[in-house]
Amino acid sequence: MSVQIGNIDLGEFPLLLAPMEDVSDPPFRYVCKQNGADMMYTEFISSEGLIRDAAKSRKKLDVFEYERPIGIQIFGSDIEHMREATEIASLAGPDLMDINYGCPVKQVACRGAGASLLQDIDKMVAMTKAVVEATHLPVTVKTRLGWDDNTKNVYEVAERLQDVGIKALTIHGRTRSQMYKGVADWSLIHAIKKNPRIKIPIFGNGDIDSPEKAAEWRMQFEVDGMMIGRAAIGYPWIFREIKHYFKTGEHLEKPTIAERIEVCKTHLEKSMEWKGPKTGIFEMRRHYSNYFKGVPDFKEYRMKLVTAATVEEIMDILAQVDKKYAFEMA
Ligand SMILES: Cc1cc2nc3c(=O)[nH]c(=O)nc-3n(C[C@H](O)[C@H](O)[C@H](O)COP(=O)(O)O)c2cc1C
Repeated sequence: MSVQIGNIDLGEFPLLLAPMEDVSDPPFRYVCKQNGADMMYTEFISSEGLIRDAAKSRKKLDVFEYERPIGIQIFGSDIEHMREATEIASLAGPDLMDINYGCPVKQVACRGAGASLLQDIDKMVAMTKAVVEATHLPVTVKTRLGWDDNTKNVYEVAERLQDVGIKALTIHGRTRSQMYKGVADWSLIHAIKKNPRIKIPIFGNGDIDSPEKAAEWRMQFEVDGMMIGRAAIGYPWIFREIKHYFKTGEHLEKPTIAERIEVCKTHLEKSMEWKGPKTGIFEMRRHYSNYFKGVPDFKEYRMKLVTAATVEEIMDILAQVDKKYAFEMA
């Protein structure tokens, strides 16, 4: 059965790219879309930044036609400001708006935003209602199981947020206290899915890193789709690999060196296009080791790639990589 968010048809069992600060920008989203991500989100955007018209926040509003359906994710601690930020972000033309109630980092959660709203559900509900009322777009939410082991309140959160009009909920199977430690526990996500009161799509998130795990957790936890974050960093092929495995029960071939290079180049080109050559080249540096993870003795090339200052140098190094590994890795 097709998954619907408002009027958006996501097909059967969609795979979503997780919002990730400093990662899920348009260049990265481009390569994930090419490789099968069914829906994507921007990095989270500060409502305060949007209202102040801060350049960094405004830039994150950029969405492109090829990305659709795409959601803009916002966070904040002040209900009025979230309402205003929703109006501003909606004008950027996304397909939906998403609210972050999951971010655990101190600068966010200790300032009353992100996961901290899990400690004040009444406020979370009021904030969500304000966002829903401020836009003509469907609103979705991304959150965690609860604040800590003693307050895993996402079951109640799901019902109450559905009641004020959200159209889908993504749950990361960890509490705020866990940050990113331990193993994600999807059993509560399953319970919410089984709650007869819940009609909206429920997406599971946390620790999906292989086609087998995706298939197993799909069966076990009966979610409507999955959101994938870290496993896609430097490996956008995870989406197509999971889809292929679902369809055939067989593993798709791993990307060849030539494919890794090709995607890396595309990512770099898009990065330069969107950020300008200097920043584009600079910010691409954090991605090289991910794209070539597992390639033996890659260190020498990584060092060269992260110090290269021009696109010509980078292309030259990638050509050397191609030459060295094309046969070895075939
Ligand atoms: C580098 C990084 C940045 C992240 N930034 C965001 C963000 O901006 N908004 C958000 O909702 N979650 C953010 N997250 C959390 C992810 O969306 C996701 O919930 C988490 O990584 C668990 O999924 P995974 O195990 O598939 O990575 C971030 C995670 C990482 C690793």
